[in-house]
Amino acid sequence: MRTPFIAGNWKMHMNRAEAGALAQAMKNELAGVPHKLMVAPPFTALETVGAVLQGSNILLGAQNMAPATSGAHTGEISPLMLKDLGVSVVILGHSERRHSYGESDALINQKVHLALQEGLEVILCVGETLEEREANRVDEVVETQMREGLKGITADQLDKVTIAYEPVWAIGTGKTATPDDADAVHKTIRDFVATLYGADEAGKMVIQYGGSVKPDNVKGLMGRDNIDGALVGGASLKTETFVPIAQFDR
Ligand code: G3P
Repeated sequence: MRTPFIAGNWKMHMNRAEAGALAQAMKNELAGVPHKLMVAPPFTALETVGAVLQGSNILLGAQNMAPATSGAHTGEISPLMLKDLGVSVVILGHSERRHSYGESDALINQKVHLALQEGLEVILCVGETLEEREANRVDEVVETQMREGLKGITADQLDKVTIAYEPVWAIGTGKTATPDDADAVHKTIRDFVATLYGADEAGKMVIQYGGSVKPDNVKGLMGRDNIDGALVGGASLKTETFVPIAQFDR
C-alpha cells in the first residue's frame, strides 16, 4: 500500500508573519491526519515555517534548488542551505520553472541527482501543455520528462522520489483533469516506471496529481487506482481549503 502524500506549494505568496500563522493553523488542524503531509513556503519564509512546524506531522518542503552545493551562483539556494533550515523535500521541475524560467530536463536531472545525494526527498513534476495534449502527445511528453529527469537514478534511490503529474493547462486555471483523464496518465507514468525500474518499483511509486485540486474534487481524484496524493497550489494557501483536502478519506 502506498501512503497518500498531500503537499502544498505556496509558490510566491505570503510574508513571514502570514506564512507562520498559516503553518501554525495547519499544524493545529492537521495533527493526527494519517497521510504524509508537506508544505513548501517561499525561501524567505522557510525558517519561520520550519520553526512553527517543529514537532508536527507536516514536512517542510522547498520549491526549487540550485544544481550545486555552493559557489558563484548568484540568486540561487543550495541544498545544504535548505537542509540547514530543516527542509526535507524539494519540488523539482515544476512547470513554472520549466516554462517561465527555461529549466531543461538536463538541468532538472542534475538537481534530482544532487538533492538525493544530499539526502533530500524529491517531488519531480511532469506534465503536458494544452497544445501537447491537443496534439495527442501526452504520453510522449511525460515519458521524456521522466526518462531525462530520472537519468542515472538507481532503483534504490527511487523510494525518495515522488512523481507529481501536473497538466500545465490545469494549473491555476480552475480546470481539473477528470479523474479518468488523470488516472490514465498516472497509469502511463507507473507503466513507464516499470519499464525503467521493474514492476516492484512501479508498484511502490507515489504519484501525485496537481492542477486545481480543491476540496470538492479531491475525493474523486484520490479514489482512482493510480492517484496517490496531490500537489496543491492555490487551495493550499488557506486552511479552509487545504485542511479538507489533506483530510480526504477514500
Ligand atoms: O504545484 C501545484 C500547482 O502547480 C497546482 O496549482 O493552483 O492549480 O492548485 P493550482
